[in-house]
Amino acid sequence: MAPALGSGTLAAMAVVLGIESSCDDTAVALVADGRTVLAEVIASQADDFAAWGGVVPEIAARGHLLALPGLIERALAEAGLTLAAIDAVAVGAWPGLIGSLLAGVTAAKVIAARRGIPLVAVDHIQAHLAAIHLGRETVPYPHVGLVASGGHSHFYRCHAAGRIDLLGGTIDDAAGEAFDKAAASLGLGYPGGPKVDALAARGDARRFAFPRSFLHDDTIRVSFAGLKTALLYQARGPLGRDPLSLDEQGVADACASFQAAVIDVLVGKLLLVARREGVRILAVGGGVACNRGLRARLETEAATHGLTVLLPEPRHCTDNAAMIATLGYHRWQRGEVASLDLAPIPTGNAGPGDNRR
Ligand code: KG4
Ligand code: ZN
Repeated sequence: MAPALGSGTLAAMAVVLGIESSCDDTAVALVADGRTVLAEVIASQADDFAAWGGVVPEIAARGHLLALPGLIERALAEAGLTLAAIDAVAVGAWPGLIGSLLAGVTAAKVIAARRGIPLVAVDHIQAHLAAIHLGRETVPYPHVGLVASGGHSHFYRCHAAGRIDLLGGTIDDAAGEAFDKAAASLGLGYPGGPKVDALAARGDARRFAFPRSFLHDDTIRVSFAGLKTALLYQARGPLGRDPLSLDEQGVADACASFQAAVIDVLVGKLLLVARREGVRILAVGGGVACNRGLRARLETEAATHGLTVLLPEPRHCTDNAAMIATLGYHRWQRGEVASLDLAPIPTGNAGPGDNRR
């Protein structure tokens, strides 16, 4: 289906090619004016890593290298465009696995250099929040944002796309990481979030009383280590080493009880952050924002308290290139372009000085 272009024509719109390769998904997208997705393609290596129980960086990097040329061609074909129609190239440049980042950054540089168009370096975490621009004419700012992904559970005050202040976050595991570890304890395999989400729908969330660390204190911090351990002991005995002791319904109940605890903590703290910041608009991004229980709870809280909740489409919550292209567009419009000696940065919350206003 041809994308809806709103009031503009494609010739009058700025087309950004986005490339995402920070972890194990290789993704390419074409986005017009930072909001209209013209094409998006993704190659997941999740199946390759199921046997390993997690991502093997060296294998992931090679996977990106193999996948990228074909994905770029496919995205262009899907949009009915050639490279000549691209106005700028955006690439997720930090944080991530260094070999994986290098693959995407190198591809982006080659295209930018060959076409003589701007290259824009994008912070992956900021991009998860900027994903709310996709499919929306306008996004209200300021708002408070939560990024809940495999590596992050952090709260921000957001002033504009890519202009955010960190307010607090997890002191140990990220929410997605906790989901993945919970799934491993329950023998559900990797990646765990979608599996726990699916089973939670037919489980009893009141069956197990799992901890909700820091929920009732006044700090902007969360912790999932205690919750993860409580689930492990429940499933596999006091040392966490016994065979799984739960039957099928027990596993579903454990998923539902675990998920309810994560949701209580994330939503409780996000509401605290909003109150503190005097803001009535909330945005949530990152893979955990796909979670159906979390989405439903956010909608309920919004209706109860008269708040606005901005959630990206599920496919734009997990790692994707459209979010990279949209943030790349906004940075490019502000003149924040990179040079061809751009070097990706493997770890940390943000790139050099870019996470602040
Ligand atoms: O944002 P993302 O795709 O990658 C990172 O930047 O980390 O997030 C991946 C994380 C994984 O931990 C995965 O288990 C979790 O998001 N996730 C979910 C769901 N879908 C993905 N967690 C809970 N419920 C889901 N439906
Ligand atoms: Zn991510």
